[in-house]
Amino acid sequence: MTEPLLRVEDLRTYFDTPAGTARAVDGVSFSIAPGETLALVGESGCGKSMTALSILQLVPEPAGYIAGGHVYFQGVDLLDYTWEEMRRVRGADIGMIFQEPMTSLNPVFTIGWQLMEAMAVHGKGRGPDTRRRAVELLTRVGLPEPERLLRQYPHELSGGMRQRVMIAMALANNPKLLIADEPTTALDVTVQKQILELIRELQQDFGMAVLLITHDLGIVAEVSDTVAVMYAGQIVEYATTRDLFRAPAHPYTRALFASRPSRDQRGRDLITIEGIVPQATAWPPACRFAPRCPERWPACENVAPVYQKLASPGEDQTGPAERGVRCHLYHPELARTRPEQPATLEVHP
Ligand SMILES: Nc1ncnc2c1ncn2[C@@H]1O[C@H](COP(=O)(O)OP(=O)(O)OP(=O)(O)O)[C@@H](O)[C@H]1O
Ligand SMILES: [Mg+2]
Repeated sequence: MTEPLLRVEDLRTYFDTPAGTARAVDGVSFSIAPGETLALVGESGCGKSMTALSILQLVPEPAGYIAGGHVYFQGVDLLDYTWEEMRRVRGADIGMIFQEPMTSLNPVFTIGWQLMEAMAVHGKGRGPDTRRRAVELLTRVGLPEPERLLRQYPHELSGGMRQRVMIAMALANNPKLLIADEPTTALDVTVQKQILELIRELQQDFGMAVLLITHDLGIVAEVSDTVAVMYAGQIVEYATTRDLFRAPAHPYTRALFASRPSRDQRGRDLITIEGIVPQATAWPPACRFAPRCPERWPACENVAPVYQKLASPGEDQTGPAERGVRCHLYHPELARTRPEQPATLEVHP
């Protein structure tokens, strides 16, 4: 088997808060092969963005800190890198697209300046070649009149155009991995579709791997090879997209599929399952989903479920063979302690 491009191992990212330690990311492991697209899904507050930020060493300090784990990228642990070393990785080997202002375009510089700067800081110089490449990139992401665009400022562009520029910047140095945290949020559906198609096309052309964070299961079905479902700082299910859609195993994953999408004030699609995600300072002691789980029985509130490998139901699957779930329903002994009748518990917030 080939060495994965990215291998996250038992990652823990905590925050010191007045209410105690918030365990935002709490023992997360997954890997991404070269060229693979892994989707990270889960409700708001589950730790998806913090997982991405941890990989890039961009956890908001000093409240937040990486409390443990490893992030192997091409076999080297990025968590051992100094800030300077990490700066060379970000935007070069690892491209990123975030919705957050921190990494958005700078309003005081032209698009051209910013795009060429992105290449220049990674040793690509600033000559006519860089300019040609900038024009090429803008064309590649479907932006009209690239020459003119180079002289424009971010505020002169529409949201969809700015997002395309962000993608162009993320791709400027041919990254091996693209981390995209809700890259199409707040864009209208047509533009969303175009941007996703674009990412997929570019991925095929450049052989780049993608870590895609999204709320949208439709997007997952369309673009990802594998899916990691996150709940309360942990991965509760991991499967190929095909397997997951065929037979979601974890009650949380099933709840995600049954949930209706809604929108928050920022125009983002949200997943709404009955009940609420608990505070990261006070995760339930055993199974973290138990208080909201329609299948729970006493074992779920007494014993913390471990992540276990599952057999894949798909015979014709092509992706990595691994499939896993963190739930007692799949534990050979504990599952037997479950009362015969499925629990008919009502879930209240
Ligand atoms: N600055 C902070 N101080 C304290 N806790 C924080 C801070 N930022 C994040 N957290 C904690 O980290 C948890 C996970 O946040 P994260 O942004 O990763 O969620 P997410 O899954 O990306 O959610 P969303 O879908 O809304 O983007 C939050 O629930 C919160 O408890
Ligand atoms: Mg987020």
